[in-house]
Amino acid sequence: MDLRLTACVLMVLCATWSANGGNILVWYTEGSHWINMKPVLETLVDRGHQVTVLTPSSSMYMNTNEPSRFHYEPFNVSFSLEAMEAFLEEFLRFSIYEIDYMNYLELYIRFIDIMKTDLQFSIQYLDGVVKSEAVMKKLKEGKYDLLLADPLYPGSDLAADILGIPLVFSLRFSLANNWERHCGQMPAPPSFVPGAMSKLTDKMDFSERVWNFLFYTLQDIMIDHTFWNVLDRYYSDVKGTPTSACELMSKADIWLIRTYWDFEFPRPFPPNFKYVGGIHCRPAKPLPEDLEEFVQSSGDDGIVIFTLGSMINNVTKEKANMIASGLAQIPQKVLWRYRGEKPETLGGNTKIYDWIPQNDLLGHPKARAFITHGGTNGIYEAIYHGVPIVGIPMFADQPDNMVHMKEKGAAVILNLNFMTSEGLRDAINTVINYKS
Ligand SMILES: *[C@@H]1O[C@H](CO)[C@@H](O)[C@H](O)[C@H]1NC(C)=O
Ligand SMILES: *[C@@H]1O[C@H](CO)[C@@H](O)[C@H](O)[C@H]1NC(C)=O
Repeated sequence: MDLRLTACVLMVLCATWSANGGNILVWYTEGSHWINMKPVLETLVDRGHQVTVLTPSSSMYMNTNEPSRFHYEPFNVSFSLEAMEAFLEEFLRFSIYEIDYMNYLELYIRFIDIMKTDLQFSIQYLDGVVKSEAVMKKLKEGKYDLLLADPLYPGSDLAADILGIPLVFSLRFSLANNWERHCGQMPAPPSFVPGAMSKLTDKMDFSERVWNFLFYTLQDIMIDHTFWNVLDRYYSDVKGTPTSACELMSKADIWLIRTYWDFEFPRPFPPNFKYVGGIHCRPAKPLPEDLEEFVQSSGDDGIVIFTLGSMINNVTKEKANMIASGLAQIPQKVLWRYRGEKPETLGGNTKIYDWIPQNDLLGHPKARAFITHGGTNGIYEAIYHGVPIVGIPMFADQPDNMVHMKEKGAAVILNLNFMTSEGLRDAINTVINYKS
């Protein structure tokens, strides 16, 4: 056949396909998980897909009133926003101020408690969807092509099963990778694959490998008893037949893992696992005038960007003073996102902001270092813009994340409970002056 004709036909076919957007349903998320999900959904809309997001009536982060390019499908939950916020505050206090002073057993018991409460919230969310005839009827009538979900918010696999539609996961990790290993069939030999949250690297000595093996085993026992047990009963009840929640989870077609090999250690994984870390990263936009002026005033020394993430607004007065006096000792200008009382020791080089455009600052040519709690969103923005990190990890995966970045030669780690002003100053100088 004539080559030009073939090319023409192919182009017409391509044009037809790309115009045929999918109808995508998105499972609810909260907190930084929603912040991470949003740019992905915006990209889906850019590519011509229709996006509908299941949104609980009590949501801390989803603002259904702001203009949006996706549709929100509301569902009711029986708990109040205050109850959720109180639980979160308790979790943060435990993670930031108490955890360092607990032994493993105390920590384990406390963690089981937290997981149980968290699951109770999850079940109430799930009630609002799968046990609501009105919501399920609307979802069935919506004729969705696909359910996209962060499995940290459980139940999407049950909904996808009831609706009979394909399921795509977007996951950072599960504790000790329990879900990925048992439901996603991801191999994880404990000899060289450290369990998520173990704070180990891929180079373990004998005792670390023994600990890693125990870590997997202990977390598996805990998760079986606090999580799978409860979910299995719930799923069986909803479906009216004995159902394994892990088996429904295993039916996910694709697992999008929100890290990449610049962060992960080498490991085996199944072909339907795709590592997409940094998917939310975007080039920097110009700064507002007053910020740009302050940034330019730093001269050749440049700036340090400091934030402890979207969930931590303040620290105790004593710690704020310790941090501020450390920052006062460096030649860079510092932009600190902080909503507590202004520390007395604040130096002339440091400005406090209620909110900062983190990505635009990290992408600024004058960015020299990033002081962060070590959440994956911020770490990836730092990787994307090539800015070294001083980590003050706070909770959840953050300590583990920072171990990865340190091992890769991109970070120094500090501990909020034990750090000093001088330690902070030295850490910043180290990441700025050592070219690794
Ligand atoms: C949520 O609750 C309100 C008030 O009880 C009710 O009017 C509304 O229909 C409910 N929404 C759904 C999706 O069930
Ligand atoms: C931090 O802010 C919260 C409110 O967001 C407040 O309840 C708490 O007392 C503050 N803590 C300190 C140490 O300032």
